[in-house]
Amino acid sequence: MSRAVIEIEGLVKRYGERTVVRGVNLEIREGEVFGLLGPNGAGKSTTISILAGLIASDGGRVTVGGFDLAGEPERIKPLIGLVPQEIALYLSLSARDNLAFFGRIYGLSGATLKERIAWALDLVKLGDRAVDPVKTFSGGMMRRLNIAVGLIHRPRVLFMDEPTVGVDPQSRNFIFEHVAQLKEGGMTILYTTHYMEEAERLCDRVAIMDAGQILALDTPHGLVNLLGGGVIHAGVVREGAEALLSTVRALPHIRAASATDGRLLMETTDAGQAVVEFIGLCRERGVSILSLEVLQPNLEGVFLHLTGKRLRE
Ligand SMILES: Nc1ncnc2c1ncn2[C@@H]1O[C@H](COP(=O)(O)OP(=O)(O)O)[C@@H](O)[C@H]1O
Ligand SMILES: [Mg+2]
Repeated sequence: MSRAVIEIEGLVKRYGERTVVRGVNLEIREGEVFGLLGPNGAGKSTTISILAGLIASDGGRVTVGGFDLAGEPERIKPLIGLVPQEIALYLSLSARDNLAFFGRIYGLSGATLKERIAWALDLVKLGDRAVDPVKTFSGGMMRRLNIAVGLIHRPRVLFMDEPTVGVDPQSRNFIFEHVAQLKEGGMTILYTTHYMEEAERLCDRVAIMDAGQILALDTPHGLVNLLGGGVIHAGVVREGAEALLSTVRALPHIRAASATDGRLLMETTDAGQAVVEFIGLCRERGVSILSLEVLQPNLEGVFLHLTGKRLRE
């Protein structure tokens, strides 16, 4: 297991009477894509803003690359890059001039700056638009340039705060490719999103956050396993459901089952296996299946399970 690049212990942030980050503990490992998944208002951006040194916390301790965030912020700054949730670009400047501006803030100049600008533009596939003012860009292109700006100094850790919100599907795919490419190059990425498919697809590990707290943390697979193997809904002729129930409960991959009005609800340890067993049983008993639905466990289900609410409400 690789070592931690970021260690967060007991992080707290208050706004007036409200505590919006409530004792967060996290360890982000070198080279991983770590997802912070939660609905709007969960505290994701606040957490990232603290890590990026933009706002102060009200408690807890953070280290980045072994340096203490409160004690040695100037040692941490070159190690991290931020892609903020809100686009932060100069609209009247060209893509190249935006990159040059932010590059200089990180002390880049001359040939190095030039080379980095070319690299960043190439990475986000905006090379052919380098000299156009950003105000002529589509939302997706601005998002991609926003990413390039966060990368100009080649940070060791990149914070990406909801980078796909409001982008077209093509730009979204580009962003996914950038994330994969950066990870390939060894970068550590902290990625926040309220889209469970993104967390599932991109992240090595995911922390589920709600109301300022981390509710669960594991690989996407590990989190999904919290739900067991998935759920099956089956409709059979009315008298069939009740009659089948006790035998269904005894099937090897069924964890629990209930029947109402000809509908069977089965919690499984493996939905794929269980559905085969269930069909076999119905055939054996001569019971006709009128409908059959297999719900595979996923992160949306896990969130619902942990909080009783949907991610996108
Ligand atoms: N500057 C601020 N002043 C007061 N409340 C804030 C401020 N910034 C964020 N909040 C509140 O903190 C909570 C967490 O916000 P945020 O971190 O932006 O959540 P997320 O990024 O997960 O959507 C929200 O309830 C939000 O309204
Ligand atoms: Mg946010």
